[in-house]
Amino acid sequence: MSKIKVGVAGYGVIGQRLADGVALQGDMELVGIADLAPTLSIRALKEKGMPYNLYLVDGADKSAFDALDIPVSGTFEDLIDKVDIMLDSSPGGVGMKNKALYEAKGVKAIFQGGKKNSVADVFFHGYANYEKGVDKDYLKLTSCNTTGLIRSVDCLDRAYGIEKVAITIIRRVADPGDYHRGLTNALQMDKAPSHQAVDLMTIMPHIEATGILVHTPVTHGHIITVVATGKQKITKEMALEAFQKHPRIRVVRIDDGFKGNASLFRYARDLGNPRGDMYEIGLWEDSIVESGNDIMYAINIPQESVTIPETMDGIRAACGMQKDGAEGTAKTNEYLKIGLFK
Ligand SMILES: NC(=O)c1ccc[n+]([C@@H]2O[C@H](COP(=O)([O-])OP(=O)(O)OC[C@H]3O[C@@H](n4cnc5c(N)ncnc54)[C@H](O)[C@@H]3O)[C@@H](O)[C@H]2O)c1
Repeated sequence: MSKIKVGVAGYGVIGQRLADGVALQGDMELVGIADLAPTLSIRALKEKGMPYNLYLVDGADKSAFDALDIPVSGTFEDLIDKVDIMLDSSPGGVGMKNKALYEAKGVKAIFQGGKKNSVADVFFHGYANYEKGVDKDYLKLTSCNTTGLIRSVDCLDRAYGIEKVAITIIRRVADPGDYHRGLTNALQMDKAPSHQAVDLMTIMPHIEATGILVHTPVTHGHIITVVATGKQKITKEMALEAFQKHPRIRVVRIDDGFKGNASLFRYARDLGNPRGDMYEIGLWEDSIVESGNDIMYAINIPQESVTIPETMDGIRAACGMQKDGAEGTAKTNEYLKIGLFK
């Protein structure tokens, strides 16, 4: 099979990580990325020697790129013409507009979590519903929190069966480097149920889910606590055994120094991971606790990088590269070197 050709629209927080993720897949080719303005990420790309070809979306001012000597390889439409599938990580409202272009050119696409579900045929998660995405044209990835949450709930569900979950999300308010949320020192409540719990039910309709979300003025990761009701009683040992086997879950301990979200971010930087990224969710062994017949635990979501592996799974499903979820996710893990530390 020749390499699947992939393009990325929107080279921001998520787009640059998607581009790097695709470049690491031995059976895919990153044709290029598209953006609107010479943002800091584009300037950094230029300073790194333009490892990826840049295409400009409608409305971009080419003279602003020329003034900075940033090479441009063509228009957004030129890029779409050259690829089998586009990864759309443009801002919230733009994806639907871009979809019309993808449809007109008969190109598949995967949209990130910020878009409406109606943008795609399938709301997708690499582990929980891979097969639903096979050979489909338009997938929408779950958001960062939902991606990590579903990884852990699906892990217990496959091992023991889960009937119900209730979650609390302690949500980082912005990404590192963002200024658009201001300089704040307050917690803010969202109306319940949180969209992540509702999204989980869309992807895993056999599980009843609800939850609360609290925004916090931090940038290095969300923390979610989950109370899960099993079809049978799940003990702490049973839960730990399942979590430890999961390639995209990193079980950590407070006594080892993993005190919270910032410890995981620092550890990723100490590993030398680009931008301090972590593809795995962190799960605290010390947080797993039984409550009657329920099991409770806490996970850390590295919001900037957590959806990258599941998006690679999405390419594999949509392009029919692997028809089976276990094979598709294993290939992604191999190329992203996920789970090697276990
Ligand atoms: N940041 C996160 O933690 C996170 C996590 C998961 C999913 N998401 C979702 O990913 C998507 C992208 O979010 P982000 O945080 O990377 O945003 P971002 O603002 O960092 O990046 C968006 C990029 O798109 C570019 N752009 C603007 N208009 C465009 C257009 N018309 N066509 C193509 N590109 C255009 C911008 O210049 C920018 O580089 C959103 O749907 C968001 O909800 C974000």
